[in-house]
Amino acid sequence: MEDRIVILTGAGLSAESGLGTFRDEGGLWTKYDLAEVATPEGFAADPHKVHDFYNARRRNCLEAAPNPAHHALARLQQARPESVSLVTQNVDDLLERAGAADVIHMHGSLTRAKCAACAASWDQRSDMDPAAACPACAAPATRPDIVWFGEYPYHMEAIWDLLRAADLFVAIGTSGQVYPAAAFVQDAARAGARTLELNLEDSDTSRDFHETRRGPASRLVPAWVAEALGG
Ligand code: APR
Repeated sequence: MEDRIVILTGAGLSAESGLGTFRDEGGLWTKYDLAEVATPEGFAADPHKVHDFYNARRRNCLEAAPNPAHHALARLQQARPESVSLVTQNVDDLLERAGAADVIHMHGSLTRAKCAACAASWDQRSDMDPAAACPACAAPATRPDIVWFGEYPYHMEAIWDLLRAADLFVAIGTSGQVYPAAAFVQDAARAGARTLELNLEDSDTSRDFHETRRGPASRLVPAWVAEALGG
C-alpha cells in the first residue's frame, strides 16, 4: 500500500445512503436553481428559501446512515492513519459517523453554521431561521456553514500540500465538473502520484486518471480498500 494516499469524495459516495447527487438524473440541480439556493446573492435575495433548502438537506443527512463505502474508508484510515487523508466535497457527516477522523470538508458542513457578521461558527443540527441571532455577536446574520458558488473553498493550502506529497490519489463519486476539486487529479499526477477513479459513470476528468473502475461506491470502495490493505 502506498505511503501517502489522498482520497477525494463527491456526492456519489453518499448516493446509496439516499442523499442523492447534484447532476445525475433527478439530482438536486435538476430540481433547484443553484443560483437561488447556493450563492451569496441567492441568500441575500431570499434567506428563507435558502434556509428551507438547507434545513431539508440537514434533516435528510441526519436521517441517513453511512453505507459500506463510508465504512470502508473509515476502516482504511483507522488501519493506516498516518497514510490516509480524506478530502470531501460533501457536506454530510456520514464519513464521521462511519468512524473517520479529520475529514477535510472543503465545501463546508450541513452540521455547522456560521455568522456572516462576526465569522463565529458552531455545531448546528436543528433547523435554522433567518431571524436567529448569532450566539457570539447577536447579529441576525446566521447562515449554513456551506461554501457557496463564488466563495472560496476551505482548507485549500492544506489540500494542495497533501496533493504535492501524494503517492496515490483516489477520486470517488464525483463528476469532475467543479473546480478546484476537478483539478486535483492533475495536481497529484504532476507531483508523481498514481491516480485512480472509482465512479458509477465516466466523469469529466476520467481521462486524467491512470486507472478508472466503474460501479457503485458501495461495491467498488470496499473491494479497493481490501486490496489496499492486502486483504
Ligand atoms: N457510486 C459511485 N458513483 C456514483 C454513484 C454511486 N452509487 N451515484 C452517482 N455517482 C457518480 C455520478 O456518476 C457522478 O459522476 O457521482 C458523481 C456525482 O456528481 P455530482 O452530482 O456532480 O456531484 P459532485 O461531483 O460531488 O459535485 C461537486 O458541485 O454542486 C457542487 O458543492 C457541490 O460538492 C458539490 C460539487
